[in-house]
Amino acid sequence: MRVDIISIFPEYFAPLDVSLMGKARERGILDIHLHQLRDWTHDVHKTVDDTPYGGGPGMVMKPEVWGEAVDAVIEDGRAASGEDALPRLIVPTPSGRPFTQEVALEYAEEPWLLFAPARYEGIDSRVVAEYGERLRADEVSIGDYVLAGGEAAVLVMVEAVGRLLPGVLGNARSVADDSFAPGAMANLLEGPVYTKPPVWRGHEVPEVLLSGHHGRIARWRRDEALRRTLARRPELVARLDRDGLDKHDRRV
Ligand code: ADE
Repeated sequence: MRVDIISIFPEYFAPLDVSLMGKARERGILDIHLHQLRDWTHDVHKTVDDTPYGGGPGMVMKPEVWGEAVDAVIEDGRAASGEDALPRLIVPTPSGRPFTQEVALEYAEEPWLLFAPARYEGIDSRVVAEYGERLRADEVSIGDYVLAGGEAAVLVMVEAVGRLLPGVLGNARSVADDSFAPGAMANLLEGPVYTKPPVWRGHEVPEVLLSGHHGRIARWRRDEALRRTLARRPELVARLDRDGLDKHDRRV
């Protein structure tokens, strides 16, 4: 997968050299290209923002500089991956549609993602309108809180998507067992996990996990996942498919 990121802080993405994402890059599974937005300005101050029309606090990022940057990055990517190739444009913003595991799975199917993280009060809205006419352009929020800029949101999304790419995780089953993953545990939070020793500071590992009885262990894991989801995210339980709940679940 090719990933382009245009930002006034390309150095913000140094963590993508580390750990799982670093390895995915080394192996050529993730091909990440960082770009400095200010390279597409034309004034000595390298201005990327201006005051908002209609007044109000803060500054808005200028459409011309984003337009030139996105055009150039698309041209560059097409030279590498084919004349007709178009990226999925992703603009992080707290007013976007929620980024969920489902969206991560959808993005993981794309060959090319282009992230446009904003600072200040956001990017002039004509930029998403313009590219939305030519390619899929999404405004996406990673949660109901406001960050200082979209860069941290891009890090979150690249990691959530990157770990889903074939060959990135050693054990493909761990993706299937994730909280929020589709399948038997869909919409359930993962329950507690344990490793050796069997007793630590007086806390014991639940006996069932030492039993070697796969059926009982699977049942226990589902019960714990249901219990935890009820306690922490009751709205997720309401979303559970009625037919997907078995009679043992109803007891929990
Ligand atoms: N930029 C600022 N806050 C954000 C959020 N919650 N999600 C995505 N982008 C953001």
